[in-house]
Amino acid sequence: MILPLNLGEQGYDIVVERGALSKIGEYINLNRKVLILTDSGVPEEYANTVKNMCQDGYIYVVSQGESSKSLENYQKILSFMVEKSFTRTDALVSVGGGVVGDLGGFVASSYMRGIDFYNVPTTLLSQLDSSIGGKVAVDLDGVKNIVGAFYQPKKVLIDSNTLKTLDSRQKMAGLCEGIKMAATSNSELFELIENSTNLDSDLEKIIIEGLKIKRDVVEKDPREKGLRRVLNFGHTIGHAIESNQGLGGLLHGECVGLGMLYMCSEEVKARLESVLKKYNLPTKIDTDSDILLSYIKRDKKAKGDKITIVYVPKIGTFELRDVQINEIKKYLNGGIF
Ligand SMILES: NC(=O)c1ccc[n+]([C@@H]2O[C@H](COP(=O)([O-])OP(=O)(O)OC[C@H]3O[C@@H](n4cnc5c(N)ncnc54)[C@H](O)[C@@H]3O)[C@@H](O)[C@H]2O)c1
Repeated sequence: MILPLNLGEQGYDIVVERGALSKIGEYINLNRKVLILTDSGVPEEYANTVKNMCQDGYIYVVSQGESSKSLENYQKILSFMVEKSFTRTDALVSVGGGVVGDLGGFVASSYMRGIDFYNVPTTLLSQLDSSIGGKVAVDLDGVKNIVGAFYQPKKVLIDSNTLKTLDSRQKMAGLCEGIKMAATSNSELFELIENSTNLDSDLEKIIIEGLKIKRDVVEKDPREKGLRRVLNFGHTIGHAIESNQGLGGLLHGECVGLGMLYMCSEEVKARLESVLKKYNLPTKIDTDSDILLSYIKRDKKAKGDKITIVYVPKIGTFELRDVQINEIKKYLNGGIF
């Protein structure tokens, strides 16, 4: 299936097809220099498959993990491209999860003021969410995504066969982003996830429906000035939980799952809790609300002492609420519905 993302000149196709990776040459012009960016945790065969179809391809491997989204790697990759004489008409293909997608996209956005960028996401989180929408970035001084750009890929190729090698915890954490989108925007998708008896066979449908939600939001608000904030459901408290426990604790998706539980009605909370438990995702965290609030105050989405939160009163609907940051304590303590 091809999902077009309409953004005028910056629009592109999202190809969702089992086996698409082995046919990548049919979708992307590989008859030029191609930098294939991957990480040490992504099975080598995926990057090799791309390289074998390239006329002049180079695989660049960074270490797996969030710490690779660094200015140091950004510079090293750029230097490598200078050394190999990449020109403005050459291309970069990221093959891996959100880490290499965000890093590769940022490199492509600035090498010679921008070269063609293609994303081949291989985690559920990146297939459902991070590979589309054009947010590319690296982290700096412990602050996630603080240096980056909006830079849309030329094409996104989603091959759900690559998920076969992904470990179950990563898959479930990625599913949280699907649960997030369904909770705010598509009650049927929520029911599909809630009632699925064979997740693997339902995954492609979940990915397509999740992508449609994100695609529609990105088309209406490409630079996150308003509506696109709906994608942050669960993120205000989720990020605080993530920052508080540091790297190596809960995964991003797991934190988002926990964060959603505070920003919804009792009825929605009960359904969310039950779906998170079904997929072995955490539903409880033992952290002081004052500590979480101190991280929310540092959230880069805060404006002065206010922040916009996404609240779900009923599955498939949402409200954007501008609240005082101190007021979030009431949500953390379960007092606002
Ligand atoms: N740009 C956006 O809009 C956006 C949205 C959400 C998240 N993000 C970013 O995405 C990143 C997280 O992405 P992620 O969850 O994909 O993590 P990730 O890229 O770190 O991948 C998770 C792990 O899975 C491994 N892996 C990847 N594909 C695999 C496969 N097919 N088989 C086996 N192992 C595989 C990786 O090596 C890594 O160890 C964060 O940096 C976050 O900030 C970006």
